[in-house]
Amino acid sequence: MNLLVLGLQWGDEGKGKAIDYLAEGFDLVVRYQGGHNAGHTIYYQDQKMVLHLLPSGIFTPGTLSVIGNGVVVNPLQLVNEIKEVEALGIHLDNLAISHLAPLILPIHQHLDIIFEQSRYVKIGTTRRGIGPAYEDLAGRRAVLMADLLDKDRFYQRVKILNDYYNKIIRLYGGEEIAVESYLDQYLEAAVALRPMITNTSELLNRYSGDGKSILFEGAQGVLLDINHGTYPFVTSSNPTIGGVFTGTGLSHKAMHKIIGISKAYTTRVGEGPFPSELSGDEAEFLRAKGNEYGATTGRPRRVGWLDLVALKYAITINGIDSIFLTKLDVLDEFEEIKAVTAYRNCDTGEETSIFDPYCVALEQAHPVGKSFPGWQTDTGGIQDFKDIPLAAKEYIAFIEEYTGVPVEIVSVGTGRKQTIRK
Ligand code: GDP
Ligand code: IMO
Ligand code: MG
Repeated sequence: MNLLVLGLQWGDEGKGKAIDYLAEGFDLVVRYQGGHNAGHTIYYQDQKMVLHLLPSGIFTPGTLSVIGNGVVVNPLQLVNEIKEVEALGIHLDNLAISHLAPLILPIHQHLDIIFEQSRYVKIGTTRRGIGPAYEDLAGRRAVLMADLLDKDRFYQRVKILNDYYNKIIRLYGGEEIAVESYLDQYLEAAVALRPMITNTSELLNRYSGDGKSILFEGAQGVLLDINHGTYPFVTSSNPTIGGVFTGTGLSHKAMHKIIGISKAYTTRVGEGPFPSELSGDEAEFLRAKGNEYGATTGRPRRVGWLDLVALKYAITINGIDSIFLTKLDVLDEFEEIKAVTAYRNCDTGEETSIFDPYCVALEQAHPVGKSFPGWQTDTGGIQDFKDIPLAAKEYIAFIEEYTGVPVEIVSVGTGRKQTIRK
């Protein structure tokens, strides 16, 4: 059985923890989109590890980790991350990287900062060069992982791209980057990565044909999807279901079940509309309790109540089978919990439960909420669903009723063991 696990909100739903928990028994764990803008937190033997590029199955013995063609890869970041994981005693001879994965170059990181000035709004990207690298893929200019394996070919391709962008950098008065300043570092990384670079589409189809089980790991979240998210406040890839197929080379027949991850509330990093956002003391409390600071950039995350209108949209467009509800424990101390069930248009007063991702529509969406009594009980140690406080069960039941899909798993802490199957 192959399973897709993807984030249903604006990222950081707890995908790292969920994948680490679910990976047992899978033969392969595959990243299909995004890059090191992702920050997936896992506690491995009580040690915190944040993975940016490596699939979150690497701590599960016997699984092959795959970085698909849809992922944009900074080879230096990848080599560093491999070293970090190896320092924990995990040996990574079980990693395959697509030879078609587009490379992130230093020039892309530079452009990520410059391009913020070229938009009609600021997005607040992770500044990792993700957007510019995907732009080059669409522009047929990208340098691919396979190009890195031939020194002369790599130099020629990078030089053309680098010279082209230096002209733009000059225009903005920025500092130019010489290819020579990073060439050797990239070629060194190529030596380390060479044994892992392969045709992952062929590999995945062969393994799939042999009946091996695959766990697909989404990065970011549905509302950050370039096509279906809150554009332009989105990332540059497709975390939604379609990204799996374009980002791996597997067909829809390889997809058997889809679990969506959602926090019991909502967070967002960076700019963009957020109808259920909280401010003031309540926001401070929720941020502190949930430790809501970016795993990649350390930025404080914006926080708010669970937005069921947005959640239902995310579930619908991806055909989600069940929900993995995380961070329920973060709500333990609240006297009252709220969830957004509709939006009222600020100008017309009209109410709707249809999520329109167009940012102007969302900016006008005033949240209409439902209130729930808090359970004010520590849930962190609960092992069995029957021991979950009644008020929390009622909150979960309402989520199921509203969205029309079951909550299959509830997470009440950062550790693998703090996970409850219903
Ligand atoms: P990801 O990007 O979706 O993998 O999520 P992040 O790792 O960026 O952020 C999720 C944060 O919540 C991490 O610090 C996790 O360790 C933490 N976390 C995950 N599940 C739970 C949970 O059920 N309860 C609590 N308190 N923390 C959790
Ligand atoms: P994980 O996988 C949360 C956000 C950035 C910014 C927007 C565009 O850990 O859930 P980008 O650098 O991708 O061009 O930034 O997307 N963003 C994330 N927010 N979690 C992530 O990944 C994110 N990856 C990108 O903050 O608003
Ligand atoms: Mg994250």
